[in-house]
This record gives sequence, C-alpha cells and structure tokens, in this order.
Amino acid sequence: MSSAVRCAVVGLGMGSGHAKGYLECPDAKLVAVCDLDPKRLEKFKDSVPAGGMYSDHKKMLKEVKPDLVSVALPNFLHAPISIDALKAGAHVLCEKPMAMTVKQAEGMLRVAEKARRKLGINLSYRFTGPARALKDLADTGFLGQAYHAHTRWTRRDGFPGFGGWFGQKKLSGGGPLIDLGVHRIDMAIWLMGSPEPVSVSGSAHYRVGVPRAKKVGKAYDCEDLAAGYIRFKNGASLVFEISWGNHQATREKMGTEVIGTQGALVHRNEGEGYDFVGEYFHEVNGHKLNGRVHSPSGAIANAYVEMVRAVKNDTKPLADGHDGLRIQKILNGLYKSAEIGREVRL
Ligand SMILES: NC(=O)c1ccc[n+]([C@@H]2O[C@H](COP(=O)([O-])OP(=O)(O)OC[C@H]3O[C@@H](n4cnc5c(N)ncnc54)[C@H](O)[C@@H]3O)[C@@H](O)[C@H]2O)c1
Repeated sequence: MSSAVRCAVVGLGMGSGHAKGYLECPDAKLVAVCDLDPKRLEKFKDSVPAGGMYSDHKKMLKEVKPDLVSVALPNFLHAPISIDALKAGAHVLCEKPMAMTVKQAEGMLRVAEKARRKLGINLSYRFTGPARALKDLADTGFLGQAYHAHTRWTRRDGFPGFGGWFGQKKLSGGGPLIDLGVHRIDMAIWLMGSPEPVSVSGSAHYRVGVPRAKKVGKAYDCEDLAAGYIRFKNGASLVFEISWGNHQATREKMGTEVIGTQGALVHRNEGEGYDFVGEYFHEVNGHKLNGRVHSPSGAIANAYVEMVRAVKNDTKPLADGHDGLRIQKILNGLYKSAEIGREVRL
C-alpha cells in the first residue's frame, strides 16, 4: 500500500490511545472515531475530518470504508464488531482479550482468513522496549531450552468499579485472569518460544470482590485472584498468580521469569506502575553473569505503529489472531479447571 493507511477507532476509552497512536504515526491517517458516549467523541472533533464522528459502527464502516479498524470495546463486543469490520473489508486491531470464548475467537480468525484481512491483537506488553529486547535475545538461543516460567500480575487495589462491565462475567468473560493474566501468560509463552500448551490446572478465588459488591448492592461476579499451572507438549511448565486485590506493598506487581538450560530472562515492572525493565542471567565457564536491558529504545514501535506497518508492508502483526486464540484456549481452560476442580486438557 503506497498511501497512508486510513484508520478508524471504535470505543474511546483505551481506544483513545489507539486514536492518538494513529495520529502520531506518519504512515497513518485517522479518518473516523466511533463511541456511544458523545463526551468521548467530542475530544476527537479536531482530530478527524468533518463527518468522521460516529455512534453507529456499521454506518461508519459503510460510509468511511477504513483500511484498518481498532476495536477497543467491552470484551463482549470484540467478536461481533471485529467480524463486522473484517466483513466490511477492513484489517482489525482488536484489544485483548481477543474474545470471551474460544468459539468467538475461532469465528474471528475464520472470518479474517476468509476475507484475507489481518487480525492483530493488542497484547500490548509485547511492545514494550525491554520485552522486545528480551525476545530478540531469546531468539538467538540465549536460553538454551526454556523449560519453566513463572509469571504474575497482582494489583493492590485494582477492582474495577462495581456494577460496570469489567466485573460481570457475561460482559467480560471473567475477572483479573482474563483481564491481566492474558498479558502475563502470553508474555511468558512468547519468551519461551511459543511451545504448545496441552493442559491447564487453575483455581479462582471469590473471597473479596463478591462480598464487597454485595454490600453496596452492585453487580460483580468475577474472581479476585487466580492461580494455576500450564503444561506444554515439550515438557515445559508455567505457574502464575493474577489478582485485582492482593495485600502487597506496591500498586502493581508484574513479573515474568523464563528459565532455560543456559540462562534466564526476566521482564518486570519497577516501582509502583508501568516502568519496565528486562534482565538476563547466564553462565560462562562457571561464572554467573547478569545484565539489564537499557530501554526504552527509540527504535521500538508501539502496537498501533506496528499494525499500520503490517498493513502497509503486508507483514504479520507482532501479535495476531493465532496468538489471541492460543491464549483464549488457555484462559477458558483455566476457568473450566477452576470450576470442576481438576486439570483440563486443551
Ligand atoms: N491492552 C491494554 O493494555 C488495555 C488496557 C486497558 C483496556 N484494554 C481493553 O480495551 C477494551 C476497552 O476497555 P476500556 O477500559 O476502554 O473500557 P471502557 O468501558 O472505558 O470503554 C469502552 C468504550 O466503548 C464504548 N462503547 C460501548 N459499546 C459501544 C458500541 N456498540 N459502539 C461504540 N462504542 C461503544 C463505550 O461508550 C466506552 O466509551 C477492553 O477489552 C479492555 O480489556 C486493554
């Protein structure tokens, strides 16, 4: 594609970041935004061409015919609205989690493949500078054979407002496991070299959020904390803990450690929030060595720029529908395992 990629965004919460990403990308042009909330739309009135603000995504797709549509909506709308956009001939960058169920995710992938459109999934932590550097290092064979990983994301007080879509399974698909776990489990598997998961075993605890929400008469039926174990075909293992409400010193605690026969890689946050570091450990002639990734590097593009590049150059998005489907199978398998109290084969 020689001209600028014409981009549109549906959903302007997280989607406002997508819109800003396209506005800053030299190869993209933001041609329309869509939201049911006029206040959120209003913020983009000077950023899109006249007539580029919509509350009906179908009308927007028909009138604007964008090349690329970002779908940044509540989880229950990811599948139907991504499918509408793909069928209208647009490439799609869909927010995580790809969908609420494996069936929905498979449907999205099927439509994308039939329409020959790209389907990117915003597994956004892959795009952080340290993560890219660690992945490049892993791809050189630095780890030897990656055989175990540990990953976590726990929040001190991260319950979403009770009564909203995030805390209602029928609208979100689940709580912190599907919301935060999707990122950290994906990060671990990606750094491990994408081994094939074969079984999962999980627990989901409903001890804090449900009673708190009940007290204030608001809807909330998601877990507070999920923990589990994933087994891979090559014998590797992964353990994780994910929570929206953990007793801990810092606001956010994120870390992914991948252990191999020759070294280890760590991607974690530092301090309270979203400053990330990458660390590597290995051994030469019995000497234990470690180092740190200096980042962010100016060369690292964000998810929006990467998706525009993938459309423009006809390349594979850094995180695509196949990655989204793989993690969807794991997440849904873990919820099933927590429900029945035993391991689930995928
Ligand atoms: N990748 C990340 O790191 C990251 C971070 C935050 C959120 N997210 C994801 O982004 C998605 C949206 O989350 P959010 O925090 O922005 O939620 P939100 O509720 O703040 O925003 C959703 C927006 O969608 C709009 N909307 C709802 N139905 C619509 C429809 N039919 N047509 C047009 N607009 C509609 C709402 O008015 C609202 O403005 C979720 O899937 C979430 O998991 C991803």
